[in-house]
Amino acid sequence: MVATLLHEIPLQGGDVTDGVVRVGDTVRRPASTSTPAVHALLRHLEAARFEGAPRALGMDELGREILTYVPGTTGLRLESVTDEALTGLAVLVRGYHDATAGFPLTLDGWAYGSNDDKAPEIVGHCDLTPDNVIFREGRPCAMIDFDLARPTTRLFDIVTTLRHWAPIADPVDRHPLLRDLDVGARLRLFCDAYGVPPRDRRRLLELARLRFHRSYTVMRTRASAGGGWAKMWAGGAGERIRRAAAWLDAYEDELHAHLV
Ligand SMILES: Nc1ncnc2c1ncn2[C@@H]1O[C@H](COP(=O)(O)OP(=O)(O)O)[C@@H](O)[C@H]1O
Ligand SMILES: [Mg+2]
Repeated sequence: MVATLLHEIPLQGGDVTDGVVRVGDTVRRPASTSTPAVHALLRHLEAARFEGAPRALGMDELGREILTYVPGTTGLRLESVTDEALTGLAVLVRGYHDATAGFPLTLDGWAYGSNDDKAPEIVGHCDLTPDNVIFREGRPCAMIDFDLARPTTRLFDIVTTLRHWAPIADPVDRHPLLRDLDVGARLRLFCDAYGVPPRDRRRLLELARLRFHRSYTVMRTRASAGGGWAKMWAGGAGERIRRAAAWLDAYEDELHAHLV
């Protein structure tokens, strides 16, 4: 046991799960109630030969999930906010959605419900923040951290991704590298690279607003139970959602013009 612990390297970058470590070519993460569903999904992706996700290797002697370590970098840097990176991300998300085809879309076993009112079409990742996308040589190559995955619509996962990467956020809350981007142009670029059909483009900002509303309510409820969510709430997560929603209201017409 001592020998194993000596080789554990803590992994930084996430803000929710304590105790994520690297052991050799593997990552160990505390398991949750959705771990069996996530591992079934990761095995499905492996069978579909989708290369942009870690492989599930089972559980270790401490009850943690074992995943393959995906080499590369996470987090925002100059190379991850270029048009090329955004295009690559859209292609990665499209490939992932297509690779989930055939996986059961029942809601049992997942941590959360769909959050879109339309019938689920795919299993969404639903948390593609810059800390959850692995880059190699300036290109997004893989997604990690499937804790929030769930059956939902393609558009819901796209909206969640664009929340972080367009980004759909008040400039005061954005990472400095994202502050001066042309958000409307980036929404369109992502939609073009993914191949988002016109009917979904028209609904995109409306769904973003619905998502803000629901995230706010859900996070506030979760925060009251303590733990990581309470920490995020105390750090101003709710206020950031409110400001993002107000920013979206103010710029909606201008943004929408890029999507029609
Ligand atoms: N399979 C993996 N391969 C490479 N790096 C990983 C892997 N899983 C996690 N990491 C690194 O550890 C960080 C935190 O892990 P993550 O699974 O995202 O936990 P959290 O729930 O805290 O966000 C990630 O941002 C990433 O840098
Ligand atoms: Mg993470």
